[in-house]
Amino acid sequence: MKKEQKIHKKITIKQIINENYKTKTFFFNEDIDIKPGQFIMLWLPCVDEKPFTLSYKKPSGVTVELKGKFTKELFKLKQGDNLFYRGPFGNGFTKTKKNAIVVAGGMGLAGVSLLIKSLKNLKVIFGTKQKKDLFFTNRFDMEICTDDGSIGYKGFATDKLRELLKKEKYDIIYTCGPETMMKKVFDIAEKYNIPCEASLERFMFCGIGVCGSCVCGNKLVCRDGPVFSSDDLREMNDFGRYARLKNGRKASLQEYHKWRS
Ligand SMILES: Cc1cc2nc3c(=O)[nH]c(=O)nc-3n(C[C@H](O)[C@H](O)[C@H](O)COP(=O)(O)OP(=O)(O)OC[C@H]3O[C@@H](n4cnc5c(N)ncnc54)[C@H](O)[C@@H]3O)c2cc1C
Ligand code: FES
Repeated sequence: MKKEQKIHKKITIKQIINENYKTKTFFFNEDIDIKPGQFIMLWLPCVDEKPFTLSYKKPSGVTVELKGKFTKELFKLKQGDNLFYRGPFGNGFTKTKKNAIVVAGGMGLAGVSLLIKSLKNLKVIFGTKQKKDLFFTNRFDMEICTDDGSIGYKGFATDKLRELLKKEKYDIIYTCGPETMMKKVFDIAEKYNIPCEASLERFMFCGIGVCGSCVCGNKLVCRDGPVFSSDDLREMNDFGRYARLKNGRKASLQEYHKWRS
């Protein structure tokens, strides 16, 4: 690891945009050199430090969903306020010129935004529970799916994926979102024999492969990921099944998501 990745750098909030009732984008005064799929650790002194992907590169920005302690404090910040970051960390997505399909669920769209911007031949599926959870609808051309049918296709993003794969040939599938969705995307990719890359989320403390809190099967998500290929995912027994709670206890994905929400 480069020495500068361990050091916190100060950044200033240049602009804040409300994306929906629970999501904001924070633009910074500095452009961070990052690859699509990599992440940074944002630090609010006396609060906490948490992982986020950049949703914008130039000017750099993060799109954040209000969750708990850290994001509540972040949401209180105003234009001109300072915070700190370390990174970028992780591997990022593989770039392709081939026909790609990106499947994003909920906040996962923030995690694939730089990837979408970098690809030429692509189709994007964006699934949320309901219309009010959507964001970036004016930024990207997307197949919108909602669980309750309040807008777009009524059904899961994975149903839409199956539909599109029956009509057209795709060379790679990228996915980011709830892990139950990503596991389904991976299973569909396996069935159609299409390579898949998934950006995984686990509870992170150090972000640099030291504490072990982000373990998933035989991998550390911060150090070996967060993006994993089909070859990796096949070997990772915990993928789509288990994750660790904040106290380190291994739990089913259902329990983990219940505890997170
Ligand atoms: C590589 C990576 C990239 C991410 N990128 C984004 C992004 O672009 N935008 C965004 O909104 N969020 C992103 N996240 C998730 C984000 O880090 C968490 O939502 C955030 O840490 C919540 O912190 P909090 O203190 O507000 O909530 P907390 O009070 O810590 O959390 C609320 C609930 O979520 C659990 N939780 C907290 N952090 C995590 C985590 N990392 N994994 C699993 N459970 C957790 C808590 O235990 C609790 O139950 C990313 C996570 C990872 C690992
Ligand atoms: S967050 Fe510490 S090892 Fe990954």
